[in-house]
Amino acid sequence: MKRILHLKSSLQGKGSYSIKLGNAIVERIQEKYPDNTLEELNLVDIEIPHLNPDVLRTFFIPGDQLTVAEKESIRFSDEVVKQLLAADIIVIGAPLYNFTIPTSLKAWIDHITRAGITFGYGENGPVGMVTGKKVYVAMSSGGVFSEGPGKVNDFVAPYLKAFLGFLGMTDLTVFRAEGLKVPGVKEYAWERAVESIEIN
Ligand SMILES: Cc1cc2nc3c(=O)[nH]c(=O)nc-3n(C[C@H](O)[C@H](O)[C@H](O)COP(=O)(O)O)c2cc1C
Repeated sequence: MKRILHLKSSLQGKGSYSIKLGNAIVERIQEKYPDNTLEELNLVDIEIPHLNPDVLRTFFIPGDQLTVAEKESIRFSDEVVKQLLAADIIVIGAPLYNFTIPTSLKAWIDHITRAGITFGYGENGPVGMVTGKKVYVAMSSGGVFSEGPGKVNDFVAPYLKAFLGFLGMTDLTVFRAEGLKVPGVKEYAWERAVESIEIN
């Protein structure tokens, strides 16, 4: 049985390409693994707190020494970490906003990054502890960033690959609906994105 977690972070609701692409990826995963469960987390539907000094300090207090108030302050983080660790396959909708990922997705990343829980430090440096996962990223962008002149500004895919890899999620594949605002490309962008989906 595969547990699928689908994260959404678009502000564009029904018109969102990263959500549509994420859904298409989920469908293909479900075809491959008929025995599955699907959990969806729309990050823009919830008020994700930014990290603040108190929360950061609390992250480093051993669990058995936390006060009730401290426990409450990291409840969201604890919940998303638990949800992530329980998943086998994670589909991350990553729309490109202002050259990077949406702030809600960055906030989620800040909350799943917990020393001693999702990463640690070994003799040879950092060790990711979120292992054995398959991650698919559903990217969508107005411009083209996988090749051509836009490639120098391709920050999202390398960032997600590097950072989620740091946490142990090294098996990551990016599918892109790109050029959605580029005449001559936008007409085929969606079709190309869907055709590129390969579940391995
Ligand atoms: C606030 C905002 C910022 C954007 N910034 C960029 C950008 O920097 N580069 C780009 O190529 N497209 C940009 N776009 C276009 C989006 O990448 C495009 O609309 C894409 O479909 C977003 O994914 P979504 O449909 O899932 O929301 C931006 C769109 C919005 C709404």
